[in-house]
Amino acid sequence: MLIKKDTRTLYERMGGEDKLRSLVQSFYQYMDELSEAKKVRDMHAPDLKSAEDKLFMFLSGWMGGPSLFIEKFGHPRLRQRHINFVIDESARDQWMLCMKHALDDIVEEKELRDELMQALYGVADFMRNSA
Ligand code: HEM
Repeated sequence: MLIKKDTRTLYERMGGEDKLRSLVQSFYQYMDELSEAKKVRDMHAPDLKSAEDKLFMFLSGWMGGPSLFIEKFGHPRLRQRHINFVIDESARDQWMLCMKHALDDIVEEKELRDELMQALYGVADFMRNSA
C-alpha cells in the first residue's frame, strides 16, 4: 500500500493565521503567569504586545506561511537579536515550558505538537549564548 506523505506546510497543518495567533497569545500568557518562567518574563518589556507580534510574524514564515517578519524587518538574524539577553539552559527551558503549555492548549494533533516541540527546541537551543 502506498502511504501518502503529508506535504502541507506546518503553517497549513496547524490551521493558518488564526491558530498561530492563538498559539503565540497563549505562549506569552503562560510566560506572564507561570512562576517557573519568571526569569524569561523579566527579560521582556512590561507590555508583551510587541514581542507577541514579532514572534507571530517570525513563526508565520518559519512554518512556511507568509514571510511577515522578513518583509517588515529584513533577515531575522535571530541569534544576533537575542545577544543582549543572557540565555542559558534554564532560560531556554523556561521558554520551552511556556511553548509546551501553549501547544498543548492550541494544537489538537499530537504528532504535530511533537514535531513543533522538537523543531522549536532546536531554535531555542541555538539561541543559547551563556553557559
Ligand atoms: C531560548 C530562550 C529565549 C529567550 C530567553 C528569548 C527572549 C527574548 C526577548 C527578551 C526578546 C525581546 C522582546 C521584547 O521586545 O521585549 C525576544 C525577541 C524575539 N524573540 Fe526571543 N527568546 C528566546 C527564544 C526565541 C525563539 C526560540 C524564537 C523563535 C522561534 C524567538 C523569537 C523572537 C523574535 C522574533 C523576537 C523579536 C526580535 C526583534 O525584532 O528584535 N525567541 N526574545
